[in-house]
Amino acid sequence: MAKVISEDIGKYCQHFPAIATIVTAQANGRENAMAVAWHAPISVKPPLYGVSVSPKRFTYQLIADSKEFGINFLPFEMAELVASVGGSKGSETDKFQRFKIAKSKPVRTAVPILEAAYVAYECHLVDDRGYGDHRWLVGEIVATHLLKEVFTPDEVIDLDKVSPILYLGNELYVTTSKDTLKSLDRKVYGGR
Ligand SMILES: Cc1cc2nc3c(=O)[nH]c(=O)nc-3n(C[C@H](O)[C@H](O)[C@H](O)COP(=O)(O)O)c2cc1C
Repeated sequence: MAKVISEDIGKYCQHFPAIATIVTAQANGRENAMAVAWHAPISVKPPLYGVSVSPKRFTYQLIADSKEFGINFLPFEMAELVASVGGSKGSETDKFQRFKIAKSKPVRTAVPILEAAYVAYECHLVDDRGYGDHRWLVGEIVATHLLKEVFTPDEVIDLDKVSPILYLGNELYVTTSKDTLKSLDRKVYGGR
């Protein structure tokens, strides 16, 4: 198959599939949730996590005001909620009421944590920088909410217990298949 050099560089700058998450925030008596597919772990010590959020989002205003945010990883059965909070504006609607989103209590911040999340982070904002049309928000994780039973004793996500939500772009969602699981020891493969 022949490769082509794309004439539309921006169109392919997104690297999919990506895990779809829900970022939560609150400030000034308002709380909100938005879908985020552009995010990454940055550091273990201290635990830092980055999310790319357009300054046009209502969520961005809440994070800029409160200096904290939450990141919620949901099971594939909740993909509709990702599409719901990613297709509506917190400036116009209370998404928690409209989509009947159940919350659990945060422990180190005031950000809403989603009850359906199998992993959720509470983050203090430590950096907020503009790159092109988005802001790269770096949060220090100050609390991690875990549904312990979806992890194996080795702390690996157990695909028999939970399926992550993968976003393919173009409003398409998919999940993982355990049939494709491979155990590849890097020391063996890297020859170290
Ligand atoms: C699957 C999916 C992933 C998204 N990823 C991002 C993202 O990484 N960054 C971003 O700024 N917007 C992203 N969006 C768009 C926002 O979620 C959307 O604009 C939302 O309505 C913003 O809500 P708000 O205005 O209440 O903050 C995504 C939307 C979807 C459906």
